[in-house]
Amino acid sequence: MMHLKATNRAPEDSMDDIFDQEFLADAMAGLQAQPKALSPKYFYDARGSHFFDLICKLDEYYPYRTEMTLLPEVAKELAGFLPDKICCVEFGAGSLHKIRPLLQHCDAIHGFIPIDISHDHLKTAGDKLAEAFPHLSVVPKAGDFTQPIALVSDSAELSNSDVLSLPRLGFFPGSTIGNFTPQEAIRFLKNARKTLGSQSYFLLGVDTQQDREALHNAYNDQEGVTADFNKNILLRMNRELKANFDLDTFTHEARFNESESRIEMHLVSRSAQEIRIAGEVIKFSQGESIHTENSYKYTPERIIALVESAGWQVVHRWTPADGSFSEVLLVPATDSGA
Ligand SMILES: C[S@@+](CC[C@H](N)C(=O)[O-])C[C@H]1O[C@@H](n2cnc3c(N)ncnc32)[C@H](O)[C@@H]1O
Repeated sequence: MMHLKATNRAPEDSMDDIFDQEFLADAMAGLQAQPKALSPKYFYDARGSHFFDLICKLDEYYPYRTEMTLLPEVAKELAGFLPDKICCVEFGAGSLHKIRPLLQHCDAIHGFIPIDISHDHLKTAGDKLAEAFPHLSVVPKAGDFTQPIALVSDSAELSNSDVLSLPRLGFFPGSTIGNFTPQEAIRFLKNARKTLGSQSYFLLGVDTQQDREALHNAYNDQEGVTADFNKNILLRMNRELKANFDLDTFTHEARFNESESRIEMHLVSRSAQEIRIAGEVIKFSQGESIHTENSYKYTPERIIALVESAGWQVVHRWTPADGSFSEVLLVPATDSGA
């Protein structure tokens, strides 16, 4: 077992250094566990974010297309639930595609704080959005949404921004919530409630697809883009953690786990092999996998149970005719002291 030295981080330590140390500790723990597993947050460097954008353009990947078709309708009705002026805080904001229909159809949004772990990609996307919406105050924030996020303390730009005084609308599209286990999702939603404050709103996009064939195709596309996206986690470990994975010796697999109601993504070793990472040896048997992502599929009833366990309540739900996706608007539950 590898032991990492505790470090006293100087204020000038870069965000990259902090992420690298966490990445190394998490990768070692995940590869030494049984079964082997890595957090999906490590897919996303600039290359991983680019692959995700390519996935969104695939015919098979219904969640992106379905939500983008739904959002203008949501946005037109959203203002009726919100105060006149609001600041939107988007978690896992990616290329900032999903905020655009909200901005085009809902005048209430005056400030925008997109949060993402893929910091270079976020900065580029933030600059483009600010250019397209010159009257919007855009304050991107690099960060990990699995940890509690303080919007004020560590950013002079944010601390000086008047958008912070506005009531907040959390926005978590893309069914990224499905990458969490239900317990993790509850923890995230509780943290988000603290970040956003007691007078807040939360717009959550959740995948409610139940058609097995559509699910299989969405994560096993013909062009192999999802496979490239999945393998980016190996490439990142090679580049950033001095590992020596041979990408051709691992196969992308996406399987539906019926009892958990989730798609699981795996990287399966084609042979018995040893890899080295940061001076340690990790053994793989033939057919052994690294579990890289879950994507839980919820029913409307299970969404309600999930958000209520985290101190939120559903005030409205939008859904397309085929029922394959849900956009739900939440407010803090009145009887919740959290
Ligand atoms: C499935 S993509 C969704 C992107 C976009 N919201 C959409 O709906 O198209 C997940 C996004 O969350 C970001 N992300 C993943 N894990 C994260 C974490 N722990 N903290 C912050 N951002 C994260 C990724 O970089 C990526 O942009």
